[in-house]
Amino acid sequence: MRGRFITFEGGEGTGKSTHAARLAERLKSFGVGVHQTREPGGSLGAEIIRYVILSGVAKPLGAEAEAVLFAAARNDHLDTVIRPALQRGVWVLCDRFADSTRVYQGVAGNVDPRSIRALERIVVGDTKPDLTFILDVPAAEGMKRAAMRRGASGADRFEDEALAFHEKLRDGFLMLAANEPSRCVLIDATAPRDDVAEQIWRTVNERFDPSTAPAHLEGAAS
Ligand code: TYD
Repeated sequence: MRGRFITFEGGEGTGKSTHAARLAERLKSFGVGVHQTREPGGSLGAEIIRYVILSGVAKPLGAEAEAVLFAAARNDHLDTVIRPALQRGVWVLCDRFADSTRVYQGVAGNVDPRSIRALERIVVGDTKPDLTFILDVPAAEGMKRAAMRRGASGADRFEDEALAFHEKLRDGFLMLAANEPSRCVLIDATAPRDDVAEQIWRTVNERFDPSTAPAHLEGAAS
């Protein structure tokens, strides 16, 4: 049976990677084969493109060119990592995916939604997430959390944007959650971390029953 594809989305500092890791651990304790990954990146080719984007060297090319770069990275990630894992029955947990392109480059970057949809059709095709958690915190709070996390190291290409950009991102993610309620579950990520993790776990159990997933000793380690 094909594995489940679960993505985590939201603005900066919303705790996506923490909660992806917590869900991965919990699923593994049930013997579910899990591969935890992230975008941009997650495969060799995509990690190289990640560096090009987040260093800011592609910024002068404009948001449309950045959308194309994210799509190219995603194409490699899907071909070499995500689809093969799903086919083996491994569950893939991905920190950011195509919704980030819709919101960062589409909503906040003003790239024509038709271009975003076309890229998604070409690159993602049928490999759509089964479930997407949208972690929500007020933009200013998220920026504060992200700054604390990175400490002395400098802000990346998107962390460096002004508060108004991050507020636009938040609105974009809220809109997405409202428009696709069957796939997207909105989570109030200002709640205590354990409560957020519990809500995510409960949702996963309601949607899919991990105890019936085939055990994957090999996949559980990946
Ligand atoms: P990362 O360090 O992984 O940040 P975060 O912890 O916030 O996920 O950096 C990824 C950045 O790239 C983040 O600012 C969001 C942005 N991004 C896009 O703009 N479009 C995309 O399609 C993706 C996947 C990420």
